[in-house]
Amino acid sequence: MPEIEALYESIPLLIHMHGCVSCGLFLDNPGRSDFDMRSHGVAFTVSCTTGSYDLYFINGPELKDVVKRYTALTGRIKLPPKWAIGYHQSRYSYMNQQEVLELGRTFRAKQIPCDVIYLDIHYMDEYRVFTFDPVRFPDPAGMIRELREMGIRIVPIVDPGVKKDAKYPVYQEGIREDHFCRKLEGDLFFGEVWPGTSAFPDFTDDRTAKWWADQHAFYTELGIEGIWNDMNEPAVFNESKTMDLDVMHRNNGKPLTHEELHNLYGLLMSKSTFEGMKEQLDRRRPFVLTRAGYAGIQRYAAVWTGDNRSFWEHMAMAMPMVLNMGLSGLAFAGPDIGGFAHHTSAELLIRWTQMGVFFPYCRNHSALETVRQEPWSFGEEAEAILREYIGLRYRWMPQMYNLFHEASVTGLPVISPLILEYPHDPNVTNLCDQFLLGDNVLIAPVYRPDTDHRAVYLPEGTWLDYWTGEGHEGGRYILAHSPLSVLPVYVKAGSIIAEGPLKQHAEDEADDTVTFHVYGAEADGDFQTAYRLYEDDGVSYGYEVGAYSELLLETRAEQGKFVLSYAYPHRQYEARRSRLRIVLRRPKFRPAEVEGLGQLTPEQMEQGALGWAVDDRSGDLIIQVEDRPEGGQWAVISA
Ligand code: GLC
Repeated sequence: MPEIEALYESIPLLIHMHGCVSCGLFLDNPGRSDFDMRSHGVAFTVSCTTGSYDLYFINGPELKDVVKRYTALTGRIKLPPKWAIGYHQSRYSYMNQQEVLELGRTFRAKQIPCDVIYLDIHYMDEYRVFTFDPVRFPDPAGMIRELREMGIRIVPIVDPGVKKDAKYPVYQEGIREDHFCRKLEGDLFFGEVWPGTSAFPDFTDDRTAKWWADQHAFYTELGIEGIWNDMNEPAVFNESKTMDLDVMHRNNGKPLTHEELHNLYGLLMSKSTFEGMKEQLDRRRPFVLTRAGYAGIQRYAAVWTGDNRSFWEHMAMAMPMVLNMGLSGLAFAGPDIGGFAHHTSAELLIRWTQMGVFFPYCRNHSALETVRQEPWSFGEEAEAILREYIGLRYRWMPQMYNLFHEASVTGLPVISPLILEYPHDPNVTNLCDQFLLGDNVLIAPVYRPDTDHRAVYLPEGTWLDYWTGEGHEGGRYILAHSPLSVLPVYVKAGSIIAEGPLKQHAEDEADDTVTFHVYGAEADGDFQTAYRLYEDDGVSYGYEVGAYSELLLETRAEQGKFVLSYAYPHRQYEARRSRLRIVLRRPKFRPAEVEGLGQLTPEQMEQGALGWAVDDRSGDLIIQVEDRPEGGQWAVISA
């Protein structure tokens, strides 16, 4: 496979499955470690080259138990601000303030949803972190304000290298207060990175981590709430590609070499960034994105997979990468959509975006001197498809946010390999070109050019095509018809999915009416299902002290009736809506009446009237009721 060298995360976790029994081995040592699963037949060898280590044996028996236990040990993602799970647009680089503003206006004019625009290294004054170039970005505060009014946030890149420059205050202060990495003999370590010769903060010392954290007031005072940490392996432009291994980190009075601590550098940088931002944002949730990390990085930052290429192979590889990251605690991860290096194409960008809108982290990013990769770069047909799929991410926002909340509580991933849910099915053991969102939505991206069919494996149960409603019995492969505008998506019968309105950004003032789609509803038999919808303001830490709501929707079959009810077990947050909509997708019975509600036309319901209707084309039963704190219950009588 072409150009697959670079990997940036180091999570020394091995998950072993023997039959259906899983266990984990976590080697806690941030120096170089080797996991060799090939050379010794039945045995694995695990070794590390420096220092001491803690070795954790993580008990199963289920794969889920291993992931839950591993994340109980190393931490779970924090609930991100809602805007951070929207669509993000980036490029190396948007070169000036005018271009950035124009980009924001274009998203809004074209009605393509977007929450974040990134500033890559050219926003800085000769790549000095904590500065803006005075010519290219003469008024960052004004630019940020104007974008905020459009509902778009700016996330600037911050690398660890601090330019060696006697006139640069951050460098002066770092030297004066002794914050930079040194060799044992006392010499400063200098490395070549984007700004030229640079010094590197020693984040292993709490004093320096705090100093770095405090520097972020430069950004937060301008209205910035998210930071993109890059080059924090640390990457250095030299032969070893990193810091000299004999740098002596202070490590809070217990000095250790860089060789011993290398993999911690990126984690500690993002930790310091997260903590600084959190303190300065005054109870608003910060967003940090990082390239490098070690076990536990999920507590501080989302992770992107680094410099991939605009190749179909790299699109395909993003699936196993992000799925593996999810099993390693990194629930908030994703690749550069469209590919970073080399030129993308309309088709590749479309297919990659279709997949990418269902990944936890969703950013389109591309490198200097590659073709433009914004959603409108390839003509109207491509733009229309991209608009639809980016919009889909926003309609699925209640579902996504719910899954993020669950991940923050359980440590389980937002998207997962099928083996997590179906460990007993040998067909899914190595299946890595399709994945589950939550535990009941199956996504099967097309990742080859010029392809409008693909094989999809459906595990046991009945699966309904998200687009057509058509049902398929699982436990077998089906051939999905997937022309360029179609991403194959299947929902398992017996599940409920929550969708919201199309928004242009996460904090769009649109009415927050939620539509619960119930799949495979039956009025007889033992059909029973439930959904818990978690909601909060999406920005603050109010939820930690109870300012959230939990809506419980339950449905069951009962003597020829289909009974549905909802209640709020907890309601200290009130969403902006007065109605709830419940759609039984292609129910397996013909509804004759809904007790207590009048029959309407689908058009009347579109206009917000309360009642029920059957959509003649799809056969869906649509019910619209008042959203009341005390909840409610209705019975659908079958004909
Ligand atoms: C690194 C990053 C990439 C970024 C570039 C310039 O290659 O991985 O995302 O655009 O540096 O900052």
